[in-house]
Amino acid sequence: MSPNTDFLPFARPSIGIEEEEAVLRVMRSGWLTTGSEALAFEKEFAAFVGVPHALAVNSATSGLHLALEALGIGPGDVVVTSPYTFTSTAAVVRHLGAEVAFCDVAPGSYNIDPDALGRLLSTTKNCRAIIAVHIGGLPCDMRAIKALATRFGCSLVEDAAHSFPSSTADGYAGTLGDVGVYSFYATKTITTGEGGMLVTRDQRVASRAEKMRMHGFDRAAWDRYTAKKASWRYAVTEAGYKYNLPDLLAAIGRVQLTKAQRFLDERKAIAAIYDEAFSGIEGLELPPRGDGHAWHLYMLRTRTDRGGLDRDTLVEQLAERGIGASVHFIPLHTMPYYAERYGLTPESFPQASFIFERTLSLPIWQGMGLDAARRVAGAVLEIAGTRRT
Ligand SMILES: Cc1ncc(COP(=O)(O)O)c(C=O)c1O
Repeated sequence: MSPNTDFLPFARPSIGIEEEEAVLRVMRSGWLTTGSEALAFEKEFAAFVGVPHALAVNSATSGLHLALEALGIGPGDVVVTSPYTFTSTAAVVRHLGAEVAFCDVAPGSYNIDPDALGRLLSTTKNCRAIIAVHIGGLPCDMRAIKALATRFGCSLVEDAAHSFPSSTADGYAGTLGDVGVYSFYATKTITTGEGGMLVTRDQRVASRAEKMRMHGFDRAAWDRYTAKKASWRYAVTEAGYKYNLPDLLAAIGRVQLTKAQRFLDERKAIAAIYDEAFSGIEGLELPPRGDGHAWHLYMLRTRTDRGGLDRDTLVEQLAERGIGASVHFIPLHTMPYYAERYGLTPESFPQASFIFERTLSLPIWQGMGLDAARRVAGAVLEIAGTRRT
């Protein structure tokens, strides 16, 4: 069978000649792992989002692990987050021996419900941290969540894996709590293939995360190999991790960062085409909106409860027309590990279960082009029917 050359993937990185040149520069420099490129990327990223400390890491998963560790989370502690997320958000809590308490998302939203969060916190003992996840790039209601974190004495971590660059009236999502962590995984708006960035205003958290990122050394490898004076000696002061971002990848991130605003504009234009095509169509519901959306994902809902087509059929029929779609997320309370550990059923979090059954993510990426977006919109309408309400 010949490959379908018209296939429109769900996501695709936008890598240009500038990124290729940056990688070549690093390859020819004689220094491939973490060094001057990673340091420059951290500085440039910190300036972009407006925080004093940014630490480049090899994934958002590592960054979230470092964030919770630096906040002192450990056995006996509880961390509250939404079940409507990727496994990393909760897995890092378990890596530290703490327990996860899930809180449902708000009706009509993909983000944690501040009302339900308030109720949960008032009955949860030993809650030490909240992880707010800005799903798809739409910022959570951070003012409400921050007020609850203060009232209940919890640290506030932002899983900002999807939300570069999501903005709010109070600053970029990811910079509004104690620590924020971005992902540069291959499908993210700016990418390094694999990678992430931890940001914080807290000097103590930054120093701890920096040390734990690199084996618990008292100094960076970069520093040891490049210092003019012979300086091979180092001390291991903690049992740390190996979570650094190599210069080869940081160099890609630096270029991508300069394109972030253009990437965002392109994504917004695609979202606008989808919005216009789907608004008022019976059986379809537009993604929740709000200012500052980064449009990492365009999560359309098919309202099977209002005559909409079954989600899986929609995904399959889009694939038959050469269009890749995806589903975010299979909620964690339905995953065997969390369901068994905490005795959860799909009914435990009715909002998350309801939206999971009805949601699909359409292609949205810079470089995809507006004609491709119109093709996707046309295919969805053709498959789902075009009755306007
Ligand atoms: C919400 C969320 N948090 C965390 C992660 C982990 O990101 P990474 O792949 O960079 O570890 C992902 C991955 O896609 C994610 O979707």
